[in-house]
Amino acid sequence: MVKMLQCLVVLVSLVVSVHGLDNGLALTPPMGWMSWERFRCNIDCKNQPNDCIGEKLFMDMADRMVEDGFKDAGYEYVNIDDCWASKERDSAGKLQADPDRFPSGIKKLADYVHSRGLKLGIYNDFGTKTCGGYPGSLGHLEVDAKTFAEWGVDMLKMDGCYADVKTMPQGYPNMTKALNATGRPILFSCSWPDYERASKIQPDYKLIAKNCNIWRNYIDIQDSWDSVLKIIDYYAQEQDTLAAVSAPGSFNDPDMLIIGDFSLSVEQAKAQMAMWSILAAPMLMSNDLRTISPEFREILLNKEVIQINQDPSGKMGKRVMQETGIEVWSKTTADSKLAIVFLSRRTDGIPTNYSIILRDAGATSNSAYEFIDLFTWKSVGKFGKRDTMKVAINPNGVRMLLGTPAKTAA
Ligand SMILES: *[C@@H]1O[C@H](CO)[C@@H](O)[C@H](O)[C@H]1NC(C)=O
Ligand SMILES: *[C@@H]1O[C@H](CO)[C@@H](O)[C@H](O)[C@H]1NC(C)=O
Repeated sequence: MVKMLQCLVVLVSLVVSVHGLDNGLALTPPMGWMSWERFRCNIDCKNQPNDCIGEKLFMDMADRMVEDGFKDAGYEYVNIDDCWASKERDSAGKLQADPDRFPSGIKKLADYVHSRGLKLGIYNDFGTKTCGGYPGSLGHLEVDAKTFAEWGVDMLKMDGCYADVKTMPQGYPNMTKALNATGRPILFSCSWPDYERASKIQPDYKLIAKNCNIWRNYIDIQDSWDSVLKIIDYYAQEQDTLAAVSAPGSFNDPDMLIIGDFSLSVEQAKAQMAMWSILAAPMLMSNDLRTISPEFREILLNKEVIQINQDPSGKMGKRVMQETGIEVWSKTTADSKLAIVFLSRRTDGIPTNYSIILRDAGATSNSAYEFIDLFTWKSVGKFGKRDTMKVAINPNGVRMLLGTPAKTAA
């Protein structure tokens, strides 16, 4: 009996350790905030003290996350992107924060973020310089990993500018080891496959998933609907490869949420939220939480949509249908619910009436599903897999439905 139990324990731990970087982190897609898309490399703190890459920005965002419900909804990481560092390493060869913009230093900032019950993320670059021209980590991986750990950093995004792409399959795992050696669990975000794609090298996603918790596959998101659609296109085109490595501890990262910024309409914002949810994507907002309007905040705080994103299976949804400007994406959750996103790329003014046999939208259960709409929280009705479901989808918008299989009689 004990032997059998031991066998079982070994088996279970084997199954669990097959996927993903083994640091206990990102068992569901990480959620939080990141500076890049919205605040870029604005270092002009003299003239724009509220909008520059400096400690005030990150403290402000931490405050908003706690006080405006984002933390309660699951948003946890406050992430510094590029342009935080001083142009020179210190006399001991360590990275140091720009003294004018981060006068208290990163350690103090980490303490502040932790005191608010959140986590701090930071950025470095695998090459000789960061994309913004700050000191790179090539030849300094160990000392930089130690520095981040000493500061109390919880997440690291390692970019790949000014680097030899061919060395990344060895170099990124070197950083994984260096982070591990610090003893501090640090969620590791890799840009490695994106740089390989750009160099027409097929990424080795098994190796990437072993060494990174999340990774960027595709170009940086910009503040436009067109950019959101391009990313979705890439995920559809590569979905079999990408879905195969999406699991607890390891997630594809289609880049930041731009909800509440300058370009997306409310419908488009719902569409990005629904798509990132069903893709099991990291939910890293890049927006100004101090001025975001209520309709966008409500979208970002949609607990039901977040729950699908945080589904413990870690599975990525897939596109199962594409016709007349409508796409159907679907996934089955760990608890056998069926999530469906109807995405419209149409621009012809009126909602599109679309019909689909539920089986074609991924339904497998023999019992009928009770559906609710995750943006209106209204019932949509009961459908078996042979039934035809009819939905109306707004132009440039989505419907996101969740079907719960009815309990079958015992
Ligand atoms: C990775 O680490 C190994 C062992 O220390 C070293 O030989 C190799 O040069 C490193 N590669 C890169 C690209 O950093
Ligand atoms: C380091 O790696 C080992 C083995 O994969 C793992 O058990 C441990 O949790 C890791 N530690 C950290 C701090 O990431």
